[in-house]
Amino acid sequence: MATLDLFSAALQPSEPPAARAQALRALLHHHAHLYYTLDAPEIPDAEYDRLFHELQALEAAHPELRAPDSPTQRVGGKLLEAFASVRHRVPMLSIRTETDTEASGARNFDARVRRELGLSESEPPIDYVAELKFDGLAMSLRYEHGVLVQAATRGDGEVGEDVTQNVRTIGQIPLRLNPDAHPAGAKALGVPSVLEVRGEVYMRRDEFEAMNEAQREKGEKTFVNPRNAAAGAVRQLDPAIAAQRPLSFYAYGLGDLTPAEQGGPAFESHYDMLQTLKAWGFPVTELVARVSGADGLVAYHQRIGASRDRLPFDIDGVVYKVDSLALQRRLGFVTREPRWAVAHKYPAQEQLTVMQGIDVQVGRTGKLTPVARLAPVFVGGVTVTNATLHNLFEMRRKRVRVGDTVIVRRAGDVIPEVVGVVGGPRAHYVPNFRMPRRCPVCGSTVVREKGEVNHRCTGGLFCAAQRKEAILHFAQRRAMDIEGLGEKLVDQLVESHVIRTLPDLYKLGLTALASLERMAEKSAQNVLDALEKSKQTTLPRFLFGLGLRHVGEATAKDLARHFGRLDAIMDASVEQLLEVNDVGPVVAQSIRTFFEQPHNREVVEQLRACGVRWEEGEPAAQAPKPLAGKTIVLTGTLPTLSRDEAKDLLEAAGAKVAGSVSKKTDYVVAGAEAGSKLDKAQALGVPVLDEAGLMILLQGELS
Ligand code: IVH
Repeated sequence: MATLDLFSAALQPSEPPAARAQALRALLHHHAHLYYTLDAPEIPDAEYDRLFHELQALEAAHPELRAPDSPTQRVGGKLLEAFASVRHRVPMLSIRTETDTEASGARNFDARVRRELGLSESEPPIDYVAELKFDGLAMSLRYEHGVLVQAATRGDGEVGEDVTQNVRTIGQIPLRLNPDAHPAGAKALGVPSVLEVRGEVYMRRDEFEAMNEAQREKGEKTFVNPRNAAAGAVRQLDPAIAAQRPLSFYAYGLGDLTPAEQGGPAFESHYDMLQTLKAWGFPVTELVARVSGADGLVAYHQRIGASRDRLPFDIDGVVYKVDSLALQRRLGFVTREPRWAVAHKYPAQEQLTVMQGIDVQVGRTGKLTPVARLAPVFVGGVTVTNATLHNLFEMRRKRVRVGDTVIVRRAGDVIPEVVGVVGGPRAHYVPNFRMPRRCPVCGSTVVREKGEVNHRCTGGLFCAAQRKEAILHFAQRRAMDIEGLGEKLVDQLVESHVIRTLPDLYKLGLTALASLERMAEKSAQNVLDALEKSKQTTLPRFLFGLGLRHVGEATAKDLARHFGRLDAIMDASVEQLLEVNDVGPVVAQSIRTFFEQPHNREVVEQLRACGVRWEEGEPAAQAPKPLAGKTIVLTGTLPTLSRDEAKDLLEAAGAKVAGSVSKKTDYVVAGAEAGSKLDKAQALGVPVLDEAGLMILLQGELS
């Protein structure tokens, strides 16, 4: 069945129950496969949960519709073929989810537990352990005689996958238990002969962002969210790749364990067990709390909810567990869920909405970012109407077009982003988005440099979006050195429209300056004096201050030394620019594009008209070209220089580097394993040099 049909099925809940149940099952199977087996979900978890609950409710109301193959009858997904299967000696259960995101969720759980234990209202409150519900993937770690022997995913709860190799790469997971561990106040624990620790493998948000940014820069696939990145890494067939992924782990429970009668530890409470795990060397979050009764649970839910955005990793809720293991045993299980635990969720950080349009924003540094305009959607605690699409390449990879239903994610302080598209083929053709050729803010040319994923506006000095950054760069100590012209003042000057471009700085008067907030006449005068003083500058400082992309202080000095005069730089061709030391094609093109923009030339002229001045010099003597007119062929592997380095050196010295040997060849430079070119040179009597000979040649002593 095509994805589009499945998706439209999700949107038509008013069919007859039997047809609806069948549509839901097909839909859930499809998405479970994408999620569990392929690690490539197309819909947010909250949407999956909603469909799942709808099917559960339908089957509860119409038991005749319950089929043995319904997704509600099993938990988890199919195994990938490539990993060995592991049968869990103690099944990995799931927990009931309290969907009510308000405080009442916690109260419902406490009331249920009390009822099942037959406690009356007058009896004292129950002790609970409240924990974070980590949003990663469940892992079972098996230790035998204190040594990690196996790590397995949850799979369907009965049979998981053996991912030991990959999990061993997670630094936080002890490979061996600490046998001298002393939980506070207790005697040394030793190690049980069998211990299975259950917990969550996850990825910190900052590490996830950094990893995605690096992928984006390389033009490679990015991950939808930290959980999928973690799941992908754990199920990576190449452990070397898994090792490069920044994974973390938190322990929250036990599986198989040597019984106390056979010398295993005798825990009385869940909390004590967690403290022991910590003593053995497992990461256990500091945010675990032992709390009393429903009030304690509610307070924990609120406290964590308020700080959720500041946690360094994603959680989708909290988990409450009855602390006493004796009470846990009394409560037991319903089907595959313990009665003594519940997950209490927070509002989802991913939602579906429709992308209504695409705007392009220009950042402080000139970077153009496509931004999705969305039908308003409540996600991560706020209403979102815009979300970043990052760059053109990300958009192409995600195949996102206007009118699509998209997944929007907002987690913590991170800018909301479109992480993917839902649905199959579109009903109508929608043209692909293109980046504008001119900056939407200032109209200057937009460029994308070779090997870069980002488009940029070239109107540096002229573009309103880049004004503040451009002025601060110009005023900095190592450029024009305008003392007192800092960030706050520049903000005020730009926001009150007193200053639009750099020359406006030199047109500032005392009244305009002194009228700004928190600006005394004395400090206004100081700024004017600093501006006056800055007019007498040097060419490298001025050039650096203009803020050309790729032109740092060193390049500005090289340019000034080489050309002597600003006009010569402004009019230089790419070829002429390439003659400057350390200026390569990217830098040369950037300088050329900058001075091709009439706005930028205008700014330079006005600055000069305002009295900005420097001493101009003579162009430096042309670098000697000892090999001008010579043709040279490279063959074989040289001991230290790469082929490209040798070629660059030769060309810089004026030589032409040719691919084949002829009578016109002046020299052949041969390294190890030189082949037919060397034979030909010898046959034709062309002089043959090694690397040392090449170096002498470059110094002009052979020719
Ligand atoms: S306890 C018998 N504690 O939530 C109870 N699970 O359905 C077993 N999870 O995928 C689970 N944080 O990986 C427990 N503090 C926590 C948890 C937690 C996250 C995950 C777990 C599983 C799901 C349980």
